[in-house]
Amino acid sequence: MKTNGVAKAALAVGLSATALAQNSCDKVLVPSYDLPVVAAGWQAQLIAGELTKPRSLQFDSSGALLVVESGKGITRHTLKDNGGTCISVSESKTLIDEKTLNHGIALSKDGKTLYASSASAVYAWDYDSKAGTVSGKREIVTNMSNNDLVTRTLLLSQKEDGYLLVSRGSADGNEAQAEVLNNGLSQIRAFDISNVTSSSTKAYNYNEDGVVLGWGLRNSVGVGEHPVTGGIYAVENSIDGVTRNGKDIHENNPGEELNFFGYLNGTKEHQGGNYGYPKCFAVWDVSEIPENDNLKIGSQFAITEENAQTISGNKLTDETCASDYVSPRLTFPAHYAPIDIKFAPKGDVAYVTFRGSFDKTDPVGYRLSSIQFNPTTGEPTISAENSRDALKDIIMNKDNSVCPDKCFRPVGMAFDSNERLWMTSDSTGEIYVLLKTEESPTSTENGTIVTGTDSPQSSASATKAGGDDENAASALWNGWETRALVAAGVVGVAGVLALI
Ligand SMILES: *[C@@H]1O[C@H](CO)[C@@H](O)[C@H](O)[C@H]1NC(C)=O
Ligand SMILES: *[C@@H]1O[C@H](CO)[C@@H](O)[C@H](O)[C@H]1NC(C)=O
Ligand SMILES: *[C@@H]1O[C@H](CO)[C@@H](O)[C@H](O)[C@H]1NC(C)=O
Ligand SMILES: *[C@@H]1O[C@H](CO)[C@@H](O)[C@H](O)[C@H]1NC(C)=O
Repeated sequence: MKTNGVAKAALAVGLSATALAQNSCDKVLVPSYDLPVVAAGWQAQLIAGELTKPRSLQFDSSGALLVVESGKGITRHTLKDNGGTCISVSESKTLIDEKTLNHGIALSKDGKTLYASSASAVYAWDYDSKAGTVSGKREIVTNMSNNDLVTRTLLLSQKEDGYLLVSRGSADGNEAQAEVLNNGLSQIRAFDISNVTSSSTKAYNYNEDGVVLGWGLRNSVGVGEHPVTGGIYAVENSIDGVTRNGKDIHENNPGEELNFFGYLNGTKEHQGGNYGYPKCFAVWDVSEIPENDNLKIGSQFAITEENAQTISGNKLTDETCASDYVSPRLTFPAHYAPIDIKFAPKGDVAYVTFRGSFDKTDPVGYRLSSIQFNPTTGEPTISAENSRDALKDIIMNKDNSVCPDKCFRPVGMAFDSNERLWMTSDSTGEIYVLLKTEESPTSTENGTIVTGTDSPQSSASATKAGGDDENAASALWNGWETRALVAAGVVGVAGVLALI
């Protein structure tokens, strides 16, 4: 028991006596790196460590937390909840022992069917949330293996029963294949799983079945559904090492994207469009781009004209990029690496995790941010598509210059039944909980990280796991930015495409 430690730590971070009383936890963990910084009106606490690359999160109907540990399987954690952020893991067990599971997870509305993905397939199990057991494994969607970007994010619609969305990127080097719809690369598809009930049902072939919500998406790892309108949004990890007309423009271009994919209710509007990859990309920093007439933030630009001719046979210009491809709804800084998007239940805000850069001189990203939405229209409140101010930071590392080694790297999120927001950091093997303590804080002071003295890091350390080196070394762990280009130095997309 560390009551004394808690008291000291709490006082050290300026908690009031009332807040302290609410936060007399049995065990208060401290990260091995500098304490994160939290926005005013928020309180955060490290709840668990020593996990194996924790990616996506899902609460079950009995309040237990399911965690996809990439390369290990799915683990189930029951929680001791003392209110506020004072929560600890009381019991952990492996629910599904399968090393190929690496990112996606979803649970049916009735809590009785669990879905998870490997690089090649989506599987379903019957799930007993009371006992914490699964049975009756079957394959739901198949034929997705490719050799590089391996996450297959799952989203089970809460608005339109029976639709399972599966997002699949494409390996850099497969640019030409990504231009053929039936190759199934760089797409988000929706599958009607209401009739996939038994193990005898034939699995969907990703490349030919389902509804194409969008394509030309390099790697849209985060997919979310607006809780009021049912609008589908995804966050896109754009390419690295970009050149244009021979000039290296990769430091601040292209921007990462928030894209919109319409609704699952049968309306075809906004659905099935091509979002540009591998031809057209979103501008983040206009000034870095040569021949930038008519470009603004969020405009689709062509990487180079000669190069575009090589891949399409047609002359591609900034103008055709703008007219023939869907541009982002909002654009984020280059290399932030967005991984998850989750809407708050009222639909007034979306949270986005940014795992952070590797292909940039000064590290960027490594944070969880929010975007304001109009809860009725389901649109971002910033109407200008060329805004640079869409993101408000909620929790971030203290000093990005020591990232990725001495930083957390945000990945998956989930809301619990008390609307607390949970977040994984895969590189450090950790899970944080975030609590909104004030709706409209007036304070200019930062919020609170509740910290103590207990270390979760006896065997896993922040500096050991994750980071770019590990990403480069392992295909399974490879994710959302282009390793090949980096290995070859900054050769530019033009160079890579010319080899095809
Ligand atoms: C499920 O039903 C839909 C529509 O009736 C059909 O197109 C699809 O092939 C069925 N799926 C399976 C796996 O049988
Ligand atoms: C996988 O896709 C290929 C090519 O589209 C097809 O020939 C094959 O039948 C598919 N396999 C399954 C299991 O659907
Ligand atoms: C689908 O939902 C959208 C957003 O609420 C709405 O505008 C549209 O009319 C709906 N379409 C159908 C066919 O219900
Ligand atoms: C508080 O933290 C946020 C990050 O979550 C940061 O953007 C902001 O600058 C900080 N504010 C102060 C006053 O330190």
